[in-house]
Amino acid sequence: MKIAMGNDHAGFPLREVVRGAVEALGHEVVDFGTTTQDSCDYPDVAVVLSRAVAAGECDLGILFCGTGIGMAIAANKVEGVYAARCEDCYAARMARTHNGANVLTFGGRTIGPGLAEDVVTVFLATEPSQDPRHLRRQVKVKQVEAGG
Ligand code: RB5
Repeated sequence: MKIAMGNDHAGFPLREVVRGAVEALGHEVVDFGTTTQDSCDYPDVAVVLSRAVAAGECDLGILFCGTGIGMAIAANKVEGVYAARCEDCYAARMARTHNGANVLTFGGRTIGPGLAEDVVTVFLATEPSQDPRHLRRQVKVKQVEAGG
């Protein structure tokens, strides 16, 4: 898959580790992040990456900031993006199967590199469920997104 990755300064060190894991799994990485630890603003990165995912230019996205929270909030403002901060493997699997999440967010200051690698592996390996009850709930979210 083509995986969009983006980060602010606080997410940069973890992004470097996780990028290696994503590439080792055979995915292509498209980079939207800053490449230093100089301070920058997470919404700038989140929105550009999210638009690329929503447009289908990338299959899935992974965002990193200090906590993973700001990136999730900003990414979820882009129509067609369903971002989930997952810092355990169960949450990552559920975010994909039940919620159809297409962007994963991490906190560079809140999760260690080994667990982050496991979480991203689960997220990328899990397909959204086609169970009607999950699809029905996702449609309700999309209706709100569309202003309904
Ligand atoms: C930057 O210090 C920090 O506020 C940011 O990376 C992120 O954690 C926001 O949610």
